[in-house]
Amino acid sequence: MLKIRKMRRSDLNTVSELAMLANPHATKEKYSKHILDELRENPDLSFVAVENGKVVGHVQADIHNDEAVLEDIAVAKECQVKGIGKRLLNKELKALKRKGAKIVLAEVHYKCASAIPFYYKHNFRITGFVQDLFGIGHDTIILKLVLQ
Ligand SMILES: CC(C)(COP(=O)(O)OP(=O)(O)OC[C@H]1O[C@@H](n2cnc3c(N)ncnc32)[C@H](O)[C@@H]1OP(=O)(O)O)[C@@H](O)C(=O)NCCC(=O)NCCS
Repeated sequence: MLKIRKMRRSDLNTVSELAMLANPHATKEKYSKHILDELRENPDLSFVAVENGKVVGHVQADIHNDEAVLEDIAVAKECQVKGIGKRLLNKELKALKRKGAKIVLAEVHYKCASAIPFYYKHNFRITGFVQDLFGIGHDTIILKLVLQ
């Protein structure tokens, strides 16, 4: 039984571990501060997936005017390709629409390029890349979704 609920501060440790799957440029300790900052700033845009009482996925986003950025989406390795990422993304896109987002960007580190077909399934398209976005050598592919 899978449930999507808002992220809580008590989820931070588990979410920080999951986030490493999407952020190979980061360390868990440093990145957990980023997750907490996002949670404080955007509590309505931070969600977790819970299966049998265990947090197995998360998503966070940020919005400025009508442009949103998916800060993170990750699902525990053993739970991937079972539809959990899709449930998290749909929840996030609904929340972003409610807040007036028209465009959603996703920044995918080159080491996570295997996630690109997942985004294409949800109508994102590659719109460019940024060299060194997360530090020297950490090049990143940018995907864009225009919300209807
Ligand atoms: C990307 C990620 C969040 C997808 O979550 P998931 O739970 O595995 O994805 P889902 O099972 O919901 O898949 C949804 C659809 O995308 C497709 N898909 C997912 N991963 C795919 C892959 N690597 N290649 C091709 N298709 C893929 C699924 O087949 C599914 O299609 P369907 O609806 O037609 O069956 C997950 O693989 C992940 O955590 N990856 C590591 C972290 C990461 O790279 N995050 C993204 C970068 S920010």
